Amino acid sequence: MAFKISVIGTGYVGIVSGTTFAAQGNSVICVDIDQHKVELMRQGIPPIYEPGLEWLLKHNIEGNRLFFTTDLKYAIENSDIVFLCLPTPPDKDGAADLQNVLATSKEIAEIIRDNDLPRNKIIVDKSTVPVGTGEKVKKIFDDILPENEIEITSNPEFLSEGTAVEEAMKPDRVVVGTESQRVKDIMKDLYEPFLRSGNPLLFMDVRSAEITKYAANSMLALRISFMNELARYCDKVEADIELIRLGIGTDPRIGRRYLYAGLGYGGSCLPKDVKALIHSANEANSPVEMVQTAYEINNTQVHYFLSKIVKRFGKLNNLHFAMWGLSFKPNTDDLRESPALALINLLLAEGANVSVYDPQAMENTRKLFSDKITYGKDQYEILNQADALILTTEWSIFRKPEFDTMKNLLKNPVIFDGRNLYDLNEMKDFGFEYYSIGRKQIS
Ligand SMILES: NC(=O)c1ccc[n+]([C@@H]2O[C@H](COP(=O)([O-])OP(=O)(O)OC[C@H]3O[C@@H](n4cnc5c(N)ncnc54)[C@H](O)[C@@H]3O)[C@@H](O)[C@H]2O)c1
Repeated sequence: MAFKISVIGTGYVGIVSGTTFAAQGNSVICVDIDQHKVELMRQGIPPIYEPGLEWLLKHNIEGNRLFFTTDLKYAIENSDIVFLCLPTPPDKDGAADLQNVLATSKEIAEIIRDNDLPRNKIIVDKSTVPVGTGEKVKKIFDDILPENEIEITSNPEFLSEGTAVEEAMKPDRVVVGTESQRVKDIMKDLYEPFLRSGNPLLFMDVRSAEITKYAANSMLALRISFMNELARYCDKVEADIELIRLGIGTDPRIGRRYLYAGLGYGGSCLPKDVKALIHSANEANSPVEMVQTAYEINNTQVHYFLSKIVKRFGKLNNLHFAMWGLSFKPNTDDLRESPALALINLLLAEGANVSVYDPQAMENTRKLFSDKITYGKDQYEILNQADALILTTEWSIFRKPEFDTMKNLLKNPVIFDGRNLYDLNEMKDFGFEYYSIGRKQIS
């Protein structure tokens, strides 16, 4: 059966959820407060870069299953299941700021009350929220709508930017926090087309579902920080973190993913979710000390990388660095908490000049740095007379570059590779001075 769904907040999670629900035949109304974004999406133009999204968006708009509006009332009137995909940014002490989720919940409850709409809608929280939020949302509905059958459900989202559409269409698992049989039946029906390959739909209580999301991201952060800490050790004792990665990642008990040493984790999720879990656990008087350590390692990783540059050049003022990669990872234009931005700021503070190139994130970077840095038309242009290349994001076009051209363009044949992309022997053969993370220095 096709469902009538509304999705409130059409950022990375909302637009991907909305389009993929529509792609299974459901009727989906997406709501956003950003009028410009809504106009773009109505024309089939995704406001973000995400592989596969544009086609899906256009296809479902043309199929009359996917609609965009700023009118929350219209969306609530015309849907039975309401997905909250609202931002939950960190506040100043690291806790998740629930203002958007709580205020929108209140607005929805008032719309239901004032328009005498059925009091049995299913409110599904896809935003990442700390334990206990479901109960806060429930109280809002119960206060405004006495005698309701509204169900507050947690359905944390695990997609990763860059592969979000693919992952949303075929999730590893779907977690649903609810104790209601009605919700279980509906969610089973809704997600059945996404789970044909046999991946599980896991039902649990709301509190456990809320924590599952933080646990997943914190575990990923732990793996990355562990590898970065080990890479620093490898630097000291002249071992190779990449070989160690292969040596442990092939152990099925450990697995291969999220074991890459580099500039540390960034993006809109891991940094904020790690901080929020630390905060929430401290509030419960049950500190998560391993997570705290992972957080601290991550905070110093870009500084550690900068120290390699400073060690090589001494003072950085008036030196020119070319940077490849700005987004926090490949295949996205998302710059939130990107290590590349932190590095640009540190280099500028040292008096260096920075020119940048990224396949998708140039426009967003320009909004942040305007004329403080220079922007290349392609990856090679910015190398001209640069003192060194700094590689910050592992986009595929940076993997097999024209090393001869690079050497001719650079003032000094020096590469600082924050992603361990290049082969040490190849660097030696081409005559580069090459610094990476947790591997031998080539000079
Ligand atoms: N980005 C990810 O990869 C990802 C993955 C899993 C979970 N999450 C979680 O999902 C939630 C949303 O994240 P995101 O990255 O999609 O956020 P985002 O910042 O990309 O998008 C949020 C959208 O909500 C809109 N919005 C804000 N207030 C609104 C309101 N009152 N009514 C309607 N629209 C409103 C904004 O205009 C924006 O378009 C967060 O809790 C995040 O932690 C994100």
